Amino acid sequence: MGKLHVIDHPMITHKLTLMRSKDTSSKDFRELLNEISMLMAYEVTRDLPLTDMEIETPLEKATFQVIDGKKISIVPILRAGLGMVDGILKLVPVARVGHIGLYRDPETHEPVEYYCKLPKFIEQRQVIVVDPMLATGGSAIAAIQFIKDRGGKDIKMMNLVAAPEGIKAVQEAHPDVDIYVAAVDDCLNDHAYILPGLGDAGDRIFGTK
Ligand code: PRP
Ligand code: URA
Repeated sequence: MGKLHVIDHPMITHKLTLMRSKDTSSKDFRELLNEISMLMAYEVTRDLPLTDMEIETPLEKATFQVIDGKKISIVPILRAGLGMVDGILKLVPVARVGHIGLYRDPETHEPVEYYCKLPKFIEQRQVIVVDPMLATGGSAIAAIQFIKDRGGKDIKMMNLVAAPEGIKAVQEAHPDVDIYVAAVDDCLNDHAYILPGLGDAGDRIFGTK
C-alpha cells in the first residue's frame, strides 16, 4: 500500500488557508500555489538519491555529494498541475518536465486524455506527478497508468488538497505510489468537488470563471 504523507507545516497550512478563500484573486492564488509547491517539494524530494562529486575547495580536493538531478521528472496533469511546476523547479531546477493532458468529463467525472509527452528514459527517472486536487482519484489513476504504460516505475503523487475517496482509490489502483498532500479534506459533493476544498483549481489559477 502506498504511504500517505500529510505535509502539515504551519507555513503550508497558512498559505493553503489563504488559497481556500473565495476572495483570493487568481494572481494571489497562483503565487500561493507556487510557494506551497516549493515547500512541499522539499519533503517530496527527501529521499532523492545522491551521487558523489569531486570538488576542489580553496584548500584541497575532496569528494562530496550532490543530487542526481537529471533523474527527476515532474509531470503536471494539465491544466491545474501547471500551477505547481515553477515552485518545484525553484527547488529542483534541473528536473525534466513532462505533461499529461486530462480533463474530467463534467457528467461522468471520468478522466479524458488529450495529451501526453514525457521526458526520454522515463523508466530511469523518479517521477513526481503533480495536481492541486485529488478528488475521485480518476485523473491521478489514469495519469499514473499512462506513465507506467510508457515504462515509468518510480512514481510519487503530489497534491495540494485530497479527498479521502481519492486517496483510497489511488492507493488501491497503484499500491506502489506514495501520495504527498498538504491537506486531507472531508469528502466529495454530488459534483465530485472536494469539501470544503478550494473550488475549481484550474479556473482559479487561470481566471477562467
Ligand atoms: C481537476 C483537477 C484534477 C481533477 C481531480 O482538473 O486539477 O486534475 O480535476 O479530479 P478527480 O480526482 O476526480 O479526477 P479538471 O478536470 O477540472 O481539469 P483542469 O485542470 O483543466 O481544470
Ligand atoms: N477538481 C477541482 O479543481 N476541484 C475539486 O474540488 C475537484 C476536482
